[in-house]
Amino acid sequence: MKKILILNGPNLNLLGKREPTVYGNTSFDTFFAELQKKYKNLTLRYYQSNVEGELINKLHEVGFEFDGIVFNAAAYTHTSIAIADAVKAISTPVIEVHISNVYEREPFRHKSFLAANAKGIITGFGLQSYELAIQSFL
Ligand code: DQA
Repeated sequence: MKKILILNGPNLNLLGKREPTVYGNTSFDTFFAELQKKYKNLTLRYYQSNVEGELINKLHEVGFEFDGIVFNAAAYTHTSIAIADAVKAISTPVIEVHISNVYEREPFRHKSFLAANAKGIITGFGLQSYELAIQSFL
């Protein structure tokens, strides 16, 4: 059974409440429960942190064992060289995902430090961005 981790960065614990016009009305817990029902043939794990170092620790923990990581680094996408280095350091492929289309938003969201170290990027499909990334690992 393939092992996939969904990793969410800062402020994504507020999904469903946070800027619903941009990020929607569904909480990640609700969405994750649906994914688990739908992908019973996968070991799906989920971890969220608002702390940069905790995201790096999680990448190190699963990054030589899991088959794929679906990573929404949120604002750290645009700021963190440490996270970009961690993505490069591990052997598990990482797909960068975003709920919103970062390229139709403010220019500071157009830069991703981790993109060059990711297997691919999916941006702008709402929560479906995560599912498209999961499907790419099947
Ligand atoms: C985001 C886009 C980022 O620019 C932003 O900082 C987020 C969420 C997205 O999923 O659309 O927190 O990664």
